[in-house]
Amino acid sequence: SGFVSMLGTGLSKIGPVGKFLGELLVKLGDMVEDGERMAIPQAKGSFKAVGGQAFFIPLYELYLIYGGIFRLTFGPKSFLIVSDPGIAKHILKDNYKAYSKGILAEILDFVMGKGLIPADGEIWRVRRRAIVPALHKKYVAAMINLFGRASFRLCEKLDRASSDGEDVEMESLFSRLTLDVIGKAVFNYDFDSLSLDNGIVEAVYIVLREAEQRSTSPIPTWEIPIWKDLSPRQQKVTKALKLINDILDDLIAICKRMVDEEKLQFHEEYMNEKDPSILHFLLASGDDVSSKQLRDDLMTMLIAGHETSAAVLTWTFYLLSKEPKVMAKLQEEVDSVLGDRFPTIEDMTKLKYTTRVINESLRLYPQPPVLIRRSIEADQLGKYPIKRGEDIFISVWNIHRSPVHWVDAESFNPERWPIDGPNPNEVNQNFSYLPFGGGPRKCVGDMFATFETVVATAMLVRRFNFEMAPGAPSVEMTTGATIHTTEGLKMTVTRRFRPPVIPSLEKKVIKINGDQPLDSCL
Ligand code: HEM
Repeated sequence: SGFVSMLGTGLSKIGPVGKFLGELLVKLGDMVEDGERMAIPQAKGSFKAVGGQAFFIPLYELYLIYGGIFRLTFGPKSFLIVSDPGIAKHILKDNYKAYSKGILAEILDFVMGKGLIPADGEIWRVRRRAIVPALHKKYVAAMINLFGRASFRLCEKLDRASSDGEDVEMESLFSRLTLDVIGKAVFNYDFDSLSLDNGIVEAVYIVLREAEQRSTSPIPTWEIPIWKDLSPRQQKVTKALKLINDILDDLIAICKRMVDEEKLQFHEEYMNEKDPSILHFLLASGDDVSSKQLRDDLMTMLIAGHETSAAVLTWTFYLLSKEPKVMAKLQEEVDSVLGDRFPTIEDMTKLKYTTRVINESLRLYPQPPVLIRRSIEADQLGKYPIKRGEDIFISVWNIHRSPVHWVDAESFNPERWPIDGPNPNEVNQNFSYLPFGGGPRKCVGDMFATFETVVATAMLVRRFNFEMAPGAPSVEMTTGATIHTTEGLKMTVTRRFRPPVIPSLEKKVIKINGDQPLDSCL
């Protein structure tokens, strides 16, 4: 996924290094008439780019001043910041062939190689065609059970915390929940990270932290030949990557044996009931087991599907804690649709308000907040011609919070989309809402991720009330691959009791004593 914080690394690759922690001067410039061509507005002034600070905040301020496309210049290097839905649509969809992933591919190379997210050109085309069919309807339906089981494990954990009167840090729990889900979903591996801390879980986090570090680090030390081999941090990363790769090799081998033993009849909606994973589909469809490409793609999906969904849940629960009315309405829907059952695929169309809550959370906290591209040929963006080799950041954050496109853009209002209307997406919102990107490189896991977050949210709010813990650190943003909190999301979780049924005609005092606590999510 595209990372705003990569600005830092992008700059360091070309500009004088070390300048970036502290005050960053944006080159002064004016909107100039350049012969007949209009020059792109240049942002002027300065803004702070302190290490770890969320970069998209100053970009939002600049957007309000300079508009839907402007240039930010640092020394010899510049970036185009796009916050206009029409231009975003042009880059992502109408003329997508003129753009590559640029800086993103360079930064993620160490972990994703030529996996589907960073890959460009022919490699991307071939792999997209191989992978998309794996996420067919029947697969996604099977995943609903997996989402339910994993969320149930989290419920049990929260139950223990709530009876012990302990507050919980939800961000890390959501990260573990979605790691458990994506491991099973992609290569049938149970990280079981909600229950235990083992070496492999730690290895995944070492690699993730490294990816984030690289995207915000002013100096690409990992590119310095000797440093690369001697630095303890790099050695740790190399070791972690090796551990994950060894496990991947084992999983691929195990899966290959299963596929060989099947009486295989491969068809469009092929799925192995015992192992519905994407890996199983790919091997059954004839993917080359020995290829580095297969490993790169598995690793890419592991990372793409893990942090994003975790961030969506984190910010959803943060938003819910601030809007008790939305929470009450949400719980009412979940109580009436699910009762005490596990969710099924049929419930996904019935949990309408829950879906709107997720839609709205993704509007306010898009993951990642910025998409990265590089022009590989000359093009025209709005009224401005651009050259080949321009690094472009499409700020989804800006588009999603634009006062031009949204009424009350800053407020968390799931009602903004009619409950019985179509689910909002980039097509029906004309690219003013694009939580999963758009065009040929749109997220392949959009439905998967929506259902995953709907199931987890529904199962958690059915059983518990969530409030910010007393004395919890205030929730601030920082950027990694996705938007993180700076100090976690510390919440007090309490068991809900079955809401009293209020007879509509009789206005009697309701006896609470007789109500039974929900025993389980079942
Ligand atoms: C691409 C968002 C979950 C796999 C993308 C893109 C976005 C996105 C915005 C476009 C990136 C760009 O154009 O530069 C999200 C969000 C998720 C999520 C918000 C969770 C709520 C997942 C899951 C998977 C996944 C669960 C895997 C099962 C991918 C892949 C791509 C992608 C492979 C690259 C597609 C391509 O370039 O052809 N995602 N994603 N994502 N996503 Fe997701």
